[in-house]
Amino acid sequence: MVAEQRYAAEVGVQILREGGNAVDAAVAVAYALAVVDPCCGNIGGGGFMLVRTRDGRERFIDFRERAPLRATPRMFLDRRGNAVAGASTKGYLSVGVPGTVMGLERAREAFGTMSRVRLLSPAIELAAHGYRLDSGDAAIFAAAARAAKSPYTFAGQRNVRAIFMRNGRLPAAGDLLMQPQLAATLRTISRDGEAAFYRGPIARAVVRASRANGGILTLQDFAGYSIEERRPLHCSYRGYDIASAPPPSSGGVTLCEILNVTSRYPLGSWGWNSARSAHYTAEAARRAFSDRNAYLGDPDFVRNPVAQLLSAGHAAKLRSTIAADRATPTVDVHPALEPPAHEHAQTTHFSIVDRDGDAVALTYTINDWFGADVIARNTGFFLNDEMDDFTTNPGRPNMYGLVQGTPNAIEPQKRPLSSMAPTIVTRAGKLFMVTGSPGGPRIITIVLSTLQNVIDYGMNVQGAVDAPRFHMQGLPDELQYERNAFSADAARTLRAMGYALHGLSDWGSAEAIVVDPRTGVRFGGTDRRRSSGLAAGY
Ligand code: DON
Repeated sequence: MVAEQRYAAEVGVQILREGGNAVDAAVAVAYALAVVDPCCGNIGGGGFMLVRTRDGRERFIDFRERAPLRATPRMFLDRRGNAVAGASTKGYLSVGVPGTVMGLERAREAFGTMSRVRLLSPAIELAAHGYRLDSGDAAIFAAAARAAKSPYTFAGQRNVRAIFMRNGRLPAAGDLLMQPQLAATLRTISRDGEAAFYRGPIARAVVRASRANGGILTLQDFAGYSIEERRPLHCSYRGYDIASAPPPSSGGVTLCEILNVTSRYPLGSWGWNSARSAHYTAEAARRAFSDRNAYLGDPDFVRNPVAQLLSAGHAAKLRSTIAADRATPTVDVHPALEPPAHEHAQTTHFSIVDRDGDAVALTYTINDWFGADVIARNTGFFLNDEMDDFTTNPGRPNMYGLVQGTPNAIEPQKRPLSSMAPTIVTRAGKLFMVTGSPGGPRIITIVLSTLQNVIDYGMNVQGAVDAPRFHMQGLPDELQYERNAFSADAARTLRAMGYALHGLSDWGSAEAIVVDPRTGVRFGGTDRRRSSGLAAGY
């Protein structure tokens, strides 16, 4: 059991110890993270759950948010077509209809063995009696200071202030954080199930707050919300089978496109983050992101040319456009699938393997840290700002710098394109690795690097999640890197090849498990970038 917050990971271990399966543990952990990881864990957002049972069966639950019925393609633009600052990232207009509660409930009913009351009780306990913050937990609240720039500050909203501020300051290491409003909401869900959230008092509270604050959410949005079961996306890489998220996430498709292109390069012998390995990986990523942005969207609304994007022919074509000695400027990359493609039109991840070998990879999110920065009335939980994942302003970058296309345009009840990539890797039918991360579009290159680090560079799982990373998404046309991702030598070579190198502070939080193929022993790696995480077993 590996998660980015230790109390939640301990909840998972406890459920497993009591005989619960991986899905039972996942449901309890997800509710617990909504309490002890309030930036990211949630009941006000959505996500994806990938399950693989020991006999090799897989299920994928899509509980991504959906746009409100009154949403329109130009809802974030003013009359002159200019973006209204902050409208898609803060406040009620940025909120998609949350999917987490329905996703967890349906997963529990379909694959779990324990009662809703049992699986919600640890979260209720942590909310009602509080949890003690360590420095890692406290650091997250420092990020809330950014909300100082938004019209929705913690200090400026009475209900948010009452939960998260004491004497004018945010929670610090050593503080006990109690969330009685959230405890009450979780008790209501525990008693009445998803009906409380989608057709009961919680829906009513959110809709009233939304109406009072310029939002467009209605009771029909909540009553009409649905989850989907989809087929996981597959590709193979150096003899491993990779299962990941299909659309409406771009995560699996983009990851697999990069893996298909790079599978012909001997990265292992070129060496970890050598200029050559980084160059070919970055060029593959640049092209895969360009396809992502041009072609992908909610499969219930647009046709996703997944088979074409993941064909051997497409990978070969992309490889043929990569120069050995220089970067390709993104302006020279033109997504051009052959017909028939044109015919039709703050997050957290955790990984679990139970005693029987059932595995769960779950990534869910409220998008930005603390989502839309708003809590409806006395519900006690942050709402997402997932509407920003749509193409809100064609030709312009969103919060993550993504310049996206028409397949991801806003439509009522559509799901915004995601980059989340809960991923399960097997070899010869045996479970090998469970991985995933938050990080917006960087999720894709984070998951990619955890796979490369283990498969190509022979690292153990802790080393694989901790190793400094780099990221390329085409636009902005720069190679982003964490401190120490490149040697001085590699950096010099990459600059000479035409890369604009851009150093950034650490990103993401990969939480992964690797099963030793020889002994069956499970090794957990929790990302040191989030120091309050925990890898635990029993
Ligand atoms: O679905 C997505 O791709 C984004 N909303 C995920 C956001 C995220 O990972 C935030 N974490 N840094």
